[in-house]
Amino acid sequence: MKPLRIAPSILSCDFGRMAEEVAAVDQAGADLIHVDVMDGRFVPNLTIGPVVVEAVRRATTKPLDVHLMMVEPEKYLQVFTRAGATGLTVQAEAVPHLHRCIHAIKDLGVRAGVALNPHTPPEVLDYLWEDIDLVLCMTVNPGFGGQRFIPQVVPKIAKIRDRLHAIGRLDDVDVEVDGGITAETAPQAITAGANLLVAGSAVFGQANYATAIQQLRMAKDQGTQAKTPSLF
Ligand code: DX5
Ligand code: ZN
Repeated sequence: MKPLRIAPSILSCDFGRMAEEVAAVDQAGADLIHVDVMDGRFVPNLTIGPVVVEAVRRATTKPLDVHLMMVEPEKYLQVFTRAGATGLTVQAEAVPHLHRCIHAIKDLGVRAGVALNPHTPPEVLDYLWEDIDLVLCMTVNPGFGGQRFIPQVVPKIAKIRDRLHAIGRLDDVDVEVDGGITAETAPQAITAGANLLVAGSAVFGQANYATAIQQLRMAKDQGTQAKTPSLF
């Protein structure tokens, strides 16, 4: 099991002061910075492109966890890597040739992740479990910050954990959750096997970012690792 890490999502920051906001969560104890790229096609929202990723890269030395909520992400892997991404996560639903795409990401020398929408079964990763560095379980429908956590996804997190355990990859692969993660919902996700928590509004919506990050870290004590059955 990998150690618990917290990745504030800058989607909820003050975009007019982005560099300051990124530096502030870095100082407040963020382990990674989560960057949400939205194209107005895969999701009904438009956000960040490579030039903004470059600006974020200049504001922190922490890893940049870039979440590509876009169609045809294959076309932009190189440009986002050059902009400073440490890892690229593509949405399974947006990529017809997922094996090829994962290897294209790895060939660029960054971590390769696959995100699953709430209704997407983990079996889409069958035949790929040995190739991926990260699985991102969306716990909201992607597109916006500040939405409510979907608890029906929790057994899927457990199923992913069980699968990674069965093939001996639980120490290599991050199990990330994204959407509606707060100090209240995080324990369920951690108990089911998540080790990487994305939080937008739960960090940037609080006055003290260090306290917000610490509260998410403490959720670990309320969760009991490796207890939730997968129910499948
Ligand atoms: C949603 C994005 C998330 C978003 C999470 O589509 O992928 O990363 O920033 O925001 P909260 O934590 O507010 O749900
Ligand atoms: Zn995200």
